[in-house]
Amino acid sequence: MDPDRDLDKCNEIVLKLVNEVGEIISTRSANRKSFICKSSDIDLVTETDIEVENHLKTNLLKKFPSHKFIGEEECSSGQKAELTDAPTWIIDPVDGTMNFVHGFPHSCISIALVVDKVIEIGIIYNPMLNQKFTARRGRGAFLNGEKISVSCEKELKKALVVSEFGTSRDAEKIKVVHENFQRISVLAHGVRCLGSAALNMAMVALGAADVNYEMGIHCWDVAAGYIIVREAGGVVVDTSGGDFDMMSRRVLAASSEELAKEVSRNLTQFQPLPRDD
Ligand code: IPD
Ligand code: CA
Repeated sequence: MDPDRDLDKCNEIVLKLVNEVGEIISTRSANRKSFICKSSDIDLVTETDIEVENHLKTNLLKKFPSHKFIGEEECSSGQKAELTDAPTWIIDPVDGTMNFVHGFPHSCISIALVVDKVIEIGIIYNPMLNQKFTARRGRGAFLNGEKISVSCEKELKKALVVSEFGTSRDAEKIKVVHENFQRISVLAHGVRCLGSAALNMAMVALGAADVNYEMGIHCWDVAAGYIIVREAGGVVVDTSGGDFDMMSRRVLAASSEELAKEVSRNLTQFQPLPRDD
């Protein structure tokens, strides 16, 4: 077997690295002044985001020289996100950077390995609360080593929904976000915002939330979440109810097909541009 496609080895190495970067993140104190704004004044990056992404990339490359990378911070500084058949690590070094800056303890490392355009490995790790969600394709989803599964809830009126306001100040997008919160909140059991797209998906996998939708996410926010939700028995589709497209910047993860359909029917759609690819 090509050693660069040995998924057991990839999984072993990445889990070790994720623990190392978790240590970096959890030992940094919140600092409301130390960040740079990217696409808007609420789209933030800190030195820690960059350090974590570099640490993961450098050490994965040492072990797997042929692997490719799509990292949030590299892409934010102009690199093109290109998904080929080569083994590719999709990395969000700190998902929930706004939370990280404020010390709201819901931020995580989100990392996935995609091979031949199929997501094989997903890890979402919140080191502040010691929550490590993991999944391998065909092998189930786990929280700190314990198997997890979605709630199987089918009705929106009994469902806890997680979504986000997002990191854009685009007036048209904000209008749609508000419209959807307004419509969904009167139909659902409850609505929550955790401040991290990846952790929102992890909550669906855990069965703690029943459905998550967001328009405006990026592939690094949802690649790991996709496989974790699927392996926990959930569905992941486009917000319109169609097929999930990782580069399209839209996601709807749910505990059941029925719930995914009911939510998608009630959402005003918005297509964030540009796509990730
Ligand atoms: C963001 C967070 C936020 C979500 C955005 C993401 P970042 O990621 O997950 O909750 O609404 O869509 O881009 O910038 O903290 O890595
Ligand atoms: Ca991030």
